Amino acid sequence: MRIELPQLPYAASALEPWISARTVNTHHGRHHRAYVDKVKALVGDNAETLEAVILRTAGDAARQVLFNNAAQAWNHAFYWQCLRPKSGPPPPAYEKWAAALKEAALGHFGSGWAWLVRHGTQLKVITTANADTPMVHGLEPLLVIDVWEHAYYLDYQERRAAYVTGVVDNLLNWELAECLTT
Ligand SMILES: [Fe+2]
Repeated sequence: MRIELPQLPYAASALEPWISARTVNTHHGRHHRAYVDKVKALVGDNAETLEAVILRTAGDAARQVLFNNAAQAWNHAFYWQCLRPKSGPPPPAYEKWAAALKEAALGHFGSGWAWLVRHGTQLKVITTANADTPMVHGLEPLLVIDVWEHAYYLDYQERRAAYVTGVVDNLLNWELAECLTT
């Protein structure tokens, strides 16, 4: 992935009524952009991919700021791809994963991300805190829900459950996980 702010794959209003255009514009145009801009400012002009920056800075306390911003830039680009307007409810084969994602997203304390990941041939639901991202743990992400407050506060205030339910039941692009068997 290049170090740049990707265009949204849909209109800002396309995720309504579950995520408003106001939230999408702020989240993508300000929060996501700020992470990308910070990475660019720190790495300067080079041809590195975002993944390369993340992997070379993970666990390096001296490069924590770069890691955090690079991982957040990647996580957000992936998040927008995981949402699909009017996706509808999860396919029956994925209902247990949908339930697990909801539980994980609600149970995660503070800022972070709830993920459906592939670990070898297995699917797993995990959460990561702050900017942390599955690739540094050897896991392949398939779907993600942003559970930072900025993802839902304008629409739902503190009601994370309403946001998570809206996303899981209506907006997740389950085709991203459909190459796998459960
Ligand atoms: Fe976010």
